[in-house]
Amino acid sequence: MDQRKVLVTSALPYANGPIHLGHLAGAYLPADIFVRFCRLLGREVLYIGGTDEHGVPITITADREGVSPQAVVDRWYADIRDSFQRAGISFDHFSRTSLPIHHQTCQDIFLKLHKKGLLVKKSEKQLYDPARRRFLPDRYVVGTCYHCGYAECSGDQCESCGKPIDPLLLIEPKSKLSGEKPEVRETEHWYLPLDRFQGQLAKWLGTKPHWKENVLNFCNGMLKEGLRERAVTRDLHWGIPVPLPDSEGKVLYVWFDAPIGYISSTREWAAQQGDPELWKTWWWDKDTRLVHFIGKDNIFFHALMFPACLMAYGNYVLPDNVPANEYLNLEGLKFSTSRNFAVWLGDYLDRFAPDPLRYYLCANMPETRDTDFNLREFQAHNNNELADTVGNFINRTLTFIERYYEGRIPERGAASGLDQEMLGRLGRIAGELGGHIDNFRYRAAADTFTEFARFCNKYFNDKAPWEARKSDPASCATTLNVCCQAVYGLSVVMWPIMPFSAENVWTQLGLSTNWKDHPWQQDYAGKLPAGHKLGKIEVLFPKIDDEAIQAQEASYKGGKTAPAVTAEKDELPGVIGIEHFAGVDIRVALVKAAEAVPKSKRLLKLTLDLGPLGERTVAAGIAGHYAPEDLPGRKVLVVANLAPRKVMGITSQGMVMAAVDGEGENEKLALTTIDGAIDLPPGSRVS
Ligand code: 2FM
Ligand code: ZN
Repeated sequence: MDQRKVLVTSALPYANGPIHLGHLAGAYLPADIFVRFCRLLGREVLYIGGTDEHGVPITITADREGVSPQAVVDRWYADIRDSFQRAGISFDHFSRTSLPIHHQTCQDIFLKLHKKGLLVKKSEKQLYDPARRRFLPDRYVVGTCYHCGYAECSGDQCESCGKPIDPLLLIEPKSKLSGEKPEVRETEHWYLPLDRFQGQLAKWLGTKPHWKENVLNFCNGMLKEGLRERAVTRDLHWGIPVPLPDSEGKVLYVWFDAPIGYISSTREWAAQQGDPELWKTWWWDKDTRLVHFIGKDNIFFHALMFPACLMAYGNYVLPDNVPANEYLNLEGLKFSTSRNFAVWLGDYLDRFAPDPLRYYLCANMPETRDTDFNLREFQAHNNNELADTVGNFINRTLTFIERYYEGRIPERGAASGLDQEMLGRLGRIAGELGGHIDNFRYRAAADTFTEFARFCNKYFNDKAPWEARKSDPASCATTLNVCCQAVYGLSVVMWPIMPFSAENVWTQLGLSTNWKDHPWQQDYAGKLPAGHKLGKIEVLFPKIDDEAIQAQEASYKGGKTAPAVTAEKDELPGVIGIEHFAGVDIRVALVKAAEAVPKSKRLLKLTLDLGPLGERTVAAGIAGHYAPEDLPGRKVLVVANLAPRKVMGITSQGMVMAAVDGEGENEKLALTTIDGAIDLPPGSRVS
């Protein structure tokens, strides 16, 4: 295996909204699995990420919400960073492109290209909105794609066919700002003459026959059509100012600046390591393997345009691979942020643990074609493969040892044919699974992993230790010893895909939870000596029930059948569609009991009767306004399909609605009740 050091990047998501599972499966989970594998293998690896904070996607969101672009990116940077962290995406550094270090890095690269005569200034015709008196760069204009006929094509790149777009060629273009047909006006911009790099790029791509077919097909198609010059500046007020005289109101094109974000994020990381020059040992060393994980819509920029910039600058290492994924769809339809038709990562993680999702997405990775996220399928993978197969083997092994060997690994005696077969498979699993991950074959990696767990269960069944314990205690001890080593092997090869669970198994095995103590290549069969004491045993993968799945479905199902939200609606700040509202289940609830919560000045614990939905406990922040004894018998309104949350040790299953004004000592609060109204029974819907 290639042991060169690896610099891994994941596409920088726009900081204009939360991360959904389509994003996760595209560029983050595959990178994280690969990076974790490299770490265990002992490769020197650096995993770089951050948020993309410039460009029209940000200004459009800011316009729509009536806030500044800075407010938009500040909000979403933090949200995105936290969601990744909760999902176990283990960046070594996560930066943002609005930082001065990034602006400086981009301006330096732009100026160097300019000095080398590799940027061309031209006056060109551009689309202009006379009603709003401004040019319409990129996504400010929509029309029909002249390559593929897609009707919602943006002015920079077609979301459907992935090709770069010349906005002047769009069919029936419309301004996103006014909805009007734009005019054509002259403006000056700097262009990167990609046509001049055509030969160099073609030669370089010729050295990459091992790249994924989707990436090579796309690039070869573009080269065949002939590369064209691309404007690398825009008429916008949000972005990195063009560092040349007479450039007032002009900024760098977001697709010029964003990939440089990988470099500036590494620079920031180096500075934080106390060695500001350290980044060069990654970016300026020809022995670095640079790997960009992206979704298929980013191929042009990562496999052609950014490499051309790096070639133009000199010094920089070029990508060794660009493993682009296809799309993950949601139950047959495209994830849609504007229609709220998405499973949001943060939302998902409020309900479920990260690892079953990581496993399911790995097994269902859109690596060669679009795939579908389906909650029922996710539930089946969790319950059948993780709970009943992997978790079952681990749990039955550890509880057997706990019960019959006082929690200590028994002696291994002479190995029978079955034992040898098991040990043989244990010796091969790292090589087989590692080969898949190293070649970005995630689906095969998940299959190999589960297949191995199936074999472990079969071994346990065939050896029947519950019988051998009495008839052949030595064989029973050997079986359990071997099973324990297999549990260990499973846990190590599990770590890249399901890190939280692997670390949990290490705890159950009484081992260190530091991944550095668990190298990929080792003698798994000899890890646990006889007499080693296990840790505390617990169920690794609880089953997921239908109710939890239904609650998650309710968060996006409303949007599924609804017509697409119109452009006008999209433009209104804070407006939601009826499908969005329909996802909120508000019910009448009768307060059965109320009590103070120890150590909380704010909370009361309410027991509520929701009629056909049963009784629930809800923690309500109303203690300063209501005495517990005043509440029983009142009918309040409750959001009934909120994910349960733990508050001060209470699992709160819903939210009681109240009108509130002010904060802290000045807070005024009144519960929203239907006391005195006609006799509506508990559980009645509110709409
Ligand atoms: O498509 C996107 O979401 C872009 N923000 C990806 C940028 S990747 C890189 F170049 F930073
Ligand atoms: Zn198209």
